Amino acid sequence: MINRLIIITGSSRGIGKATAEIFLKGGESDLVIGVARTAATETVPNFKGIQADLSHLEGCENLLSQLAAFIAENTPQKLILVNNAGRLGEVVPSYQTPPSDLAKTIFLNMTAPMILQNGLLTVSVEKAIPLEIVNISSGAAKHEYYGWSGYCSTKAGFLMAAQVLKFGNKSITS
Ligand SMILES: NC(=O)c1ccc[n+]([C@@H]2O[C@H](COP(=O)([O-])OP(=O)(O)OC[C@H]3O[C@@H](n4cnc5c(N)ncnc54)[C@H](OP(=O)(O)O)[C@@H]3O)[C@@H](O)[C@H]2O)c1
Repeated sequence: MINRLIIITGSSRGIGKATAEIFLKGGESDLVIGVARTAATETVPNFKGIQADLSHLEGCENLLSQLAAFIAENTPQKLILVNNAGRLGEVVPSYQTPPSDLAKTIFLNMTAPMILQNGLLTVSVEKAIPLEIVNISSGAAKHEYYGWSGYCSTKAGFLMAAQVLKFGNKSITS
């Protein structure tokens, strides 16, 4: 039986990888699901890799379906979502940001974590499994930086999205 199911986006390197390594030192009955575009090559006990591109809708919806099916089959005692995957985007004067780059930054940094927190909260309510959400934000959510228009805006926007979700659901730890 799985005790804690920990889902970490952006687990292939950086903060997400380090977070996965810390959770993997936890209890033997915990399972870490790491999500990234790069497929996990190592076979680590208690780790399951899911390959997904979270910069578009289809990638997020596919991931949610896989997670919902896994949770239904394994009924963990607790869910933890670490919304970590993010991108800075091209650092250029704001008005020169290529539209496609801006759209990708907005989707990955704000839309995807909103879709994932909403989707997992739905599963959590339906299955009566407690959910804890950990969001990796940035000082850029509250301070402007030259050339970081998409990054600062999405970090600020998602901070508010998380606050609104928590405001309406007092049971969430975020
Ligand atoms: N590093 C800092 O100084 C710092 C400071 C403040 C906040 N943060 C925040 O901390 C978080 C992690 O930062 P980091 O520096 O560790 O980043 P990083 O080293 O660039 O790693 C980003 C992770 O996100 C994944 N990722 C990127 N695009 C993706 C996509 N389209 N779909 C799915 N996964 C994707 C990457 O995996 P793949 O490339 O394999 O997909 C990678 O695992 C971000 O939210 C960032 O804004 C970082």
